[in-house]
Amino acid sequence: MRQLKFYLPDEAATRELGAALAPALAPGMVVYLHGDLGAGKTALVRALLHAAGHAGHVKSPTYTLAEPYQVRLGGQAVETIHFDLYRMASPEEFLEAGFRDYFNHQTVCLVEWPEKGDKVLPPPDMHVLLQVSGQGREVELHALSDLGIQCLDRLRYPPSP
Ligand SMILES: Nc1ncnc2c1ncn2[C@@H]1O[C@H](COP(=O)(O)OP(=O)(O)O)[C@@H](O)[C@H]1O
Ligand SMILES: [Mg+2]
Repeated sequence: MRQLKFYLPDEAATRELGAALAPALAPGMVVYLHGDLGAGKTALVRALLHAAGHAGHVKSPTYTLAEPYQVRLGGQAVETIHFDLYRMASPEEFLEAGFRDYFNHQTVCLVEWPEKGDKVLPPPDMHVLLQVSGQGREVELHALSDLGIQCLDRLRYPPSP
């Protein structure tokens, strides 16, 4: 396992991290986002998707549970799916909705509340842990697989002055 830890003093810092993560991701990656409500999981995903070329809104898929986006990551078109499993009642719901098909070598899956998908969710390449700390947020990135480690190796954050 390889890990990085940063302090994000304000929302602009969260946006910069999202922008730095976008080109570091690769097709096939599964990223779990952990943290309480308001920790900044959606804010980070939103910044990432905007940096990857998505021009429209990004709102948390609270009721649909999953929202796919066509974006560009590291120069290639990649379908990126944002999950928010907070309101998922049971793992069967995940399977019946066909969400398993979203997880493949061509896509990137970003999952809020992965705890709710226990047993049905494919394993992560990276964990993102967000926590309120003072006025800002602590963030930890834990890489668990080769894909995850390569992602952290590519990550250029904090941006050089
Ligand atoms: N680094 C930061 N410092 C302070 N506030 C932040 C930071 N990053 C995000 N925020 C704010 O925290 C809130 C996070 O909300 P949201 O992203 O919806 O959280 P979650 O998806 O984890 O429930 C937003 O109001 C956002 O403006
Ligand atoms: Mg959220």
